[in-house]
Amino acid sequence: MRNFTNVHDIGDLKAAVAEALEVKKDRYAYGHLGHNKTMLMIFFNSSLRTRLSTQKAAMNLGMNTMVLDINQGAWKLETERGVVMDGDKPEHLLEAVPVMGCYCDIIGVRSFAQFASKEDDYSEKILNQFIDYSGRPVVSMEAATRHPLQSFADLITIEEHKEKPRPKVVMTWAPHPRSLPQAVPNSFAEWMNETDYDFVITHPEGYELDPQFVGRAKVEYDQKKALEGADFVYAKNWAAYQDPNYGKIINTDRSWTVGKEHMALTNNAQFMHCLPVRRNMIVTDDVIEGPRSLVIPEAANREISAQVVLKRILESL
Ligand code: CP
Repeated sequence: MRNFTNVHDIGDLKAAVAEALEVKKDRYAYGHLGHNKTMLMIFFNSSLRTRLSTQKAAMNLGMNTMVLDINQGAWKLETERGVVMDGDKPEHLLEAVPVMGCYCDIIGVRSFAQFASKEDDYSEKILNQFIDYSGRPVVSMEAATRHPLQSFADLITIEEHKEKPRPKVVMTWAPHPRSLPQAVPNSFAEWMNETDYDFVITHPEGYELDPQFVGRAKVEYDQKKALEGADFVYAKNWAAYQDPNYGKIINTDRSWTVGKEHMALTNNAQFMHCLPVRRNMIVTDDVIEGPRSLVIPEAANREISAQVVLKRILESL
């Protein structure tokens, strides 16, 4: 594997999950692979899980790790080509990225959608500059349109906890006070569409995702109907994708908050969320703390998904 930015980079999902379960049995068995290799993690945005789990995965593989927060201690970076740099950004990404590539063997990048331009976000302008100019394999640690390390961990979690071969998986929109990117729901949908699960997306009207990610999923606007018979409920907020509301909050209906009465409609579903989660906006305390909540094992699998990805890249260097 050269880069990891979407589901297609990982190849056969059954093989990827099998490899993940092997890694999980003994995560220190591959410590020789990363000897004298360096993982550089670049964050344009905040993180708890991605930062810790990816660093841990790299260390499990014997790698050295370096972390740089672009907005805390690094020079502010200009990303637009052709601008006269007379503002507050003293360095251009076009020099910074190849310089970063000089100091490492693999680069991880977190660069969220900025909602200033849908075209810029959906062309993955920043992530692609790392791919084009770093000279190193690039791992997306959540970019503008996808969060593949999260989706891979979600898939591993479902495979570990499913109680039937083809579970019904429902991704439901839930309210949130801030505009959030579509990367997690896009990516989750992209990965679910590569499985044989019964996959349903439910959201209020106006929150339709980019059709390239919706794919074969059934879209059901009635949340209660969508939840009937669900084996997994994957809650997530996202801001509107469709024009003219791209990046905007257009609904704050708290009846979409996943609570006990929602879970009662399901087939005793297990609850998932990528975290961080706003309690009693996205999900009620009792559901997230309940016996069918998978949020902690799901987060734990972030280490495993990252380790499989880094292991494959190291094996190909
Ligand atoms: N789920 C996830 O990516 O968490 P962080 O934003 O804390 O990394």
